[in-house]
Amino acid sequence: MATIQFKGKSYVQNHHLTLKYHHLVPNPDASLTDKVSLQDNLIIHGDNLLALKALLPTYAGKVKCIYIDPPYNTGNEGWIYNDNVNSPMMQSWLKANSPVDKEDLARHDKWLCMMMPRLKLLRELLRDDGVIFVSIDDNEVHHLRMLMDEIFGEENYRNSIVVRRGTKNVQSQFENIDALAIGHETILIYTLNSQLRLPKLQHNLGEVEAGKWDTFWRGTDRRTMRFELFGIEPESGQWRWSKDRSFKAKKNYEHYLDNYSSEMSLDEYYVDILTTTSQKLDFIKYDEEEGSVKYYVPPRSYRIMSDAWMDLRTRGDFTDFPTEKHPDMIRRVLIWTTANDPEAIVLDSFAGSGVTAHAVLSLNQEDKGNRKFILIEMEDYAESLTMGRVRKVIKGIPESKDKVLQKGLGGSFSFFDLGNPIEMQAILDGDKLPDYEELARYVFYNATGDEFDPAKVDEKRHYIGENHEYEVYLFYQPSLDYLRSTAFDLDKAENLGRPKPNSKKRLVFAPMKFLDSETLEDYKIEYCQLPFEIYKFKE
Ligand SMILES: C[S@@+](CC[C@H](N)C(=O)[O-])C[C@H]1O[C@@H](n2cnc3c(N)ncnc32)[C@H](O)[C@@H]1O
Repeated sequence: MATIQFKGKSYVQNHHLTLKYHHLVPNPDASLTDKVSLQDNLIIHGDNLLALKALLPTYAGKVKCIYIDPPYNTGNEGWIYNDNVNSPMMQSWLKANSPVDKEDLARHDKWLCMMMPRLKLLRELLRDDGVIFVSIDDNEVHHLRMLMDEIFGEENYRNSIVVRRGTKNVQSQFENIDALAIGHETILIYTLNSQLRLPKLQHNLGEVEAGKWDTFWRGTDRRTMRFELFGIEPESGQWRWSKDRSFKAKKNYEHYLDNYSSEMSLDEYYVDILTTTSQKLDFIKYDEEEGSVKYYVPPRSYRIMSDAWMDLRTRGDFTDFPTEKHPDMIRRVLIWTTANDPEAIVLDSFAGSGVTAHAVLSLNQEDKGNRKFILIEMEDYAESLTMGRVRKVIKGIPESKDKVLQKGLGGSFSFFDLGNPIEMQAILDGDKLPDYEELARYVFYNATGDEFDPAKVDEKRHYIGENHEYEVYLFYQPSLDYLRSTAFDLDKAENLGRPKPNSKKRLVFAPMKFLDSETLEDYKIEYCQLPFEIYKFKE
């Protein structure tokens, strides 16, 4: 496979593995809930590199849909490369602390160095049937496609969706131009698993589009599809359908005219037959006025979408944020990937004005779903613009023209700030595996966002505490000899006992599992993989 090369690649390739885990610090004042929890809808204020890493213990392998809209690297957005990678070149980038502009010769390298570790972390967060959508434009689309091919696998590439964007009409004043104005953006789509089949994407037209007649002749030239119909035999091109089908369609229409046309319109007749017999009838007729053969295009309430989403507005106008996307665009992404998955977790790690949360809440409101959003935004406006918009759409906007928004979409969210590195790193910097309680503190906190109480730990039962939603268990021994024997299997699930109908879910941390998802569900277990770092040690 052809791979992309760029300055700094060798330093960022595994950067995500060496990053420290950081605390996610609950911020109750900025939250919209009584119980701030990592299991809630989340808004996280901080650099997504560290925030994504901090989410791994709780959300690795759990996110169904990722939508991100990173800086496009246009040369005038003011983004700065600021990852603290251990390489002299990157340290010099960091020291310069200057926005990446068009004059910057390392502009594309810096952008790729910024994206690579983030995409690797995002990949770890995706579920087996997860899908990632990345908005991008002409500045980096070619680099991003190659980078994503490398990280997600070429076989997992699905589409480059084209979405319309408004153009500034400055070219009208010139006779000659360097290149055409750019009227589109792209959304690259990758899955985690190449076997995954996506549902066909239908766009509801809102109201039913009436049936119509369209020309039966086509320009494609197939001899076998030229035959006499209504006394006409085309000299070139072809009829749309085979001879059999065409004559049947002609008969169908005659049958309708003779028997039903005085009682019902053709659309009504078509729908009647469709609903009573599931048959989709074809009709053709000779159009006297035009002197040509026409076929019937049935009424429809939806359109099957291709990769050209030119019908949507991409630019949102809910806030003054300059690069705001429209919630309808994200809603289409969500309808496509989560229509049958009302509990799906949706992640946006370049949150900006919080549009993804808006779209998630709006779809939940519409189909009574319980999808969850996770937003990450590094700028201080996470606590004003991002949080403010989400709060508004939840609680309602009395002055909105939209009746649903007037009332509010409902929901809650927990706001977290990115804190200091967790002591675990100190443990890991030592030369032995962390002991049971140290690790329990780490996983419990990361999973629940609640204070860990060592007095509650019952190591024999592998129980390390509980919160309002979960009982938490940790299967672990501080020795590599026990790696396999601490794997979570059926015996261990049975030892936890059959859950009662009203009992809490069990969150189980273990180095590996030998159980399928149905069994885990039977036992009300959510399995979490222990962070990989722990096992880097050789005793
Ligand atoms: C193009 S905007 C996203 C706009 C968003 N889709 C909307 O509709 O409002 C990119 C956002 O990502 C944020 N961002 C850039 N780098 C980031 C990082 N390393 N961590 C977290 N957020 C980041 C920027 O501050 C900006 O708000």
